[in-house]
Amino acid sequence: MDMRILSIETSCDETAIALLQIEGTSNSPQIKTIANGLYSQAKLHEEFGGVFPTLAKREHQKNLPILLDKVLKDAGEPEDKPNIDFIAVTTGPGLEPALWTGITFAKELGERWEKRVVPVNHMEGHIWSVLLQGEESRGVSLPGIALLVSGGHTELVSIKGFGEYEILGQTVDDAVGEAYDKVARMLDLPYPGGPKISKLANEARIENIVPEFSFPRPMKQSGDLRFSFSGLKTAVLYKVKSLGEMDEETKKQVALAFEEAVMDVLYTKSKMALERYPDTKSFIVAGGVAANQKLRETIESLKKEFSDLEVIFPTQSLSTDNAIMIGLAAFIEVTKNPSLLESTQELVASGNLKLS
Ligand code: KG4
Ligand code: ZN
Repeated sequence: MDMRILSIETSCDETAIALLQIEGTSNSPQIKTIANGLYSQAKLHEEFGGVFPTLAKREHQKNLPILLDKVLKDAGEPEDKPNIDFIAVTTGPGLEPALWTGITFAKELGERWEKRVVPVNHMEGHIWSVLLQGEESRGVSLPGIALLVSGGHTELVSIKGFGEYEILGQTVDDAVGEAYDKVARMLDLPYPGGPKISKLANEARIENIVPEFSFPRPMKQSGDLRFSFSGLKTAVLYKVKSLGEMDEETKKQVALAFEEAVMDVLYTKSKMALERYPDTKSFIVAGGVAANQKLRETIESLKKEFSDLEVIFPTQSLSTDNAIMIGLAAFIEVTKNPSLLESTQELVASGNLKLS
């Protein structure tokens, strides 16, 4: 199928719109980014130490029309009737006030242009972000497993077929990105803390700084595929309190000890999932934390244990939230189920939407 998709993402603190043209099959897509626009609100949320939902909503409302204008201009498409087949919009999971701004905007455009609006699960977007590697398109051999690691989610997902998922295990409390963000706050580093903590940890490695302490690996031995990061976060908090005023080197020790604990847990659970599902052909790591270089190296090393396994990461710029991945997931869903383009079902924001 040949599709032109205008996709919209507003689930958290990035406002994003993209226009994609996709030909071919789910196994072997040919993807062309016609235009791509993204506004990150991260700077605005910095002083709250996390994403503030009403502020996110207001910013999305302000930025969506500006971004649309830019994307259509870049694409050379007229604003009154651009050449697209349908619109795709994230309906969950995420912050509901933020999701609604994207849904309302998409619906208005759909009415104006007489095009269908297809709902997309944000996590499915993260999975299929790997289909576009720079300018190159790629396929993914199935069955696969995805390790999804973001600010709101930590889960292992079985990908049985295109559009067919089962959650194998997820966090019972905090998400891994959230833990990074909270530890960053303890070290007086601004939101989003993931990149800053991983930079400190990396400097510690380069400078051969060895932490004088280590942190617990919650649920590492639980025997199942569930995760927990809240105990780790608390352990870091107590340590930071006991350390008092910290110099730069001590901060690096904390960052490194924290990241080592995270990596140990993510590696152990990923390996366990692959042992349980030996016919797995691909292992995808996606979501904001997939931008982490140490995580990439750690998971890449699974190839030593599972020789025929393909380990796949998104291009760095598609690791964190964007609209391209939403268009890609819409392509997978519409290819599987073309009747989505006839559906008149009301779109609803669903903060806790699950993959199924
Ligand atoms: O997927 P994403 O952009 O938004 C959500 O859907 O949550 O993920 C954002 C999360 C934040 O918690 C951020 O701190 C984390 O991803 N993150 C990282 C890195 N880059 C982003 N965590 C660790 N290392 C990184 N390099
Ligand atoms: Zn995300």
